Amino acid sequence: MKKITVVGAGYVGLVTAICFADLGNDVVCIEKDDSKLNQLSRGILTFYEPGIPELLQKNLGTGKVRFTNSMSEGVAFGDVIFLCVGTPERGDGSADLSQIENASREIASSITSYRLIVEKSTVPVNTHQRVKRTIQRYAGHDVPCEVASNPEFLREGSALEDFMHPDRIIIGVESQRGKALFQEIYQDFSCPIIYTDPATAELVKHASNSFLAMKISYINMIADLCEKVGADISIVADGVGFDKRIGRSFLNPGIGWGGSCFGKDVKAFIEIAEEYGVHFGLLQETLKQNYERRKSFVRKIEDILWVNNDKVIAIWGLSFKPDTDDIRDAPSIEIVRELLKNGAQLQLFDPVAMDNFRILFPESDKVHYLGDKYDACQGADTLVILTEWKEFQSIDWPRLKKSLNLPVIVDGRNLFKPEYVRGEGFEYYSVGRK
Ligand code: UDX
Repeated sequence: MKKITVVGAGYVGLVTAICFADLGNDVVCIEKDDSKLNQLSRGILTFYEPGIPELLQKNLGTGKVRFTNSMSEGVAFGDVIFLCVGTPERGDGSADLSQIENASREIASSITSYRLIVEKSTVPVNTHQRVKRTIQRYAGHDVPCEVASNPEFLREGSALEDFMHPDRIIIGVESQRGKALFQEIYQDFSCPIIYTDPATAELVKHASNSFLAMKISYINMIADLCEKVGADISIVADGVGFDKRIGRSFLNPGIGWGGSCFGKDVKAFIEIAEEYGVHFGLLQETLKQNYERRKSFVRKIEDILWVNNDKVIAIWGLSFKPDTDDIRDAPSIEIVRELLKNGAQLQLFDPVAMDNFRILFPESDKVHYLGDKYDACQGADTLVILTEWKEFQSIDWPRLKKSLNLPVIVDGRNLFKPEYVRGEGFEYYSVGRK
């Protein structure tokens, strides 16, 4: 078991720190934000993620993980240092690497003996070279360190499962010494582990996320076509997805992808490819199609309601996907904004994301937050479903019908079989189906 330092207690950093600790390693996690540090040290998680709060408390209790704001303490502690700081989007779509640069500079001022520094944050290809150069430059002498890439593929809502049982582990490392450290860290994992050079590993992450985003955008376009020609997207997705070369997952049509990764990563990938002279029109179209989709979904609702002004619309689901309170780049934001612009009155419900949403859309005469899915439907002219939370899939249909003013459902996530819902006496509109 190793001594591991994790830099950054954001989503990726915290999950990484806690899971490595739970696997038996000794982990120090560095967090600069005092209030976050304070909460984490007391075992309080700063975001919603199933399974993680319990694991945090357990490993704080056993002393396997602890939190600090001191980089020098972290650098002195870990044989391996995972960089898990944010790489947000800049105005031009490229990745803002200032947190990576800052961490590299801080490491430079504390490092005295060999450390394996590992990028886990999603970074553009060849960032490892810059990290290494920055450390050497700011240390002012030849520092015995190595920079490797070990990208994360965690999905929000299932991060614990994804960490403990990944499809694959990608490791870009140059020396035998670095490789041996990774072999120890990942010795209990039975999935394929691919060892390569750091640039290739960095590229795998952007290539994976961009492909997934493209796959969803592709099926969404087919869904649009299905609606026009009267075909059924569920069957098309099955028919296409059973081909092992394609696969069925990430072929669920809907209101488009969102979240903190896909948009940011696709844009950064386009930018870095352009920088190296490769024009990624395919991904530009993926982005365009995805963001237009939110508007076209609003047009669909308005077409169904005819006149939007003063209509009461119930909305189920605000998070960008189920099992998270994350609303970053959630389609719900633009859909709510557009519906409000056009005069609708909204009754919103989400099992965990309402507090975050309230910051963007405070309670007002047009925006109401309700504590229960049926309450949200009380007196509404239609129910719009934006996130496929499990609890939206089991419905007391007579109760729902009684709550709504009109039995109309616009389902952006295809939760139900159309004939069934219609059998319950509802007008039902979904995506890519008759
Ligand atoms: C993604 C990647 O899956 C993960 O590997 C990476 O580390 C981080 O980015 P995440 O953003 O948590 O994970 O969610 P994901 O499950 O990939 O879903 C992203 C978006 O795509 C969501 O808005 C989801 O609703 C949408 N989606 C997903 C679809 O619209 N259809 C699908 O079939 C699958």
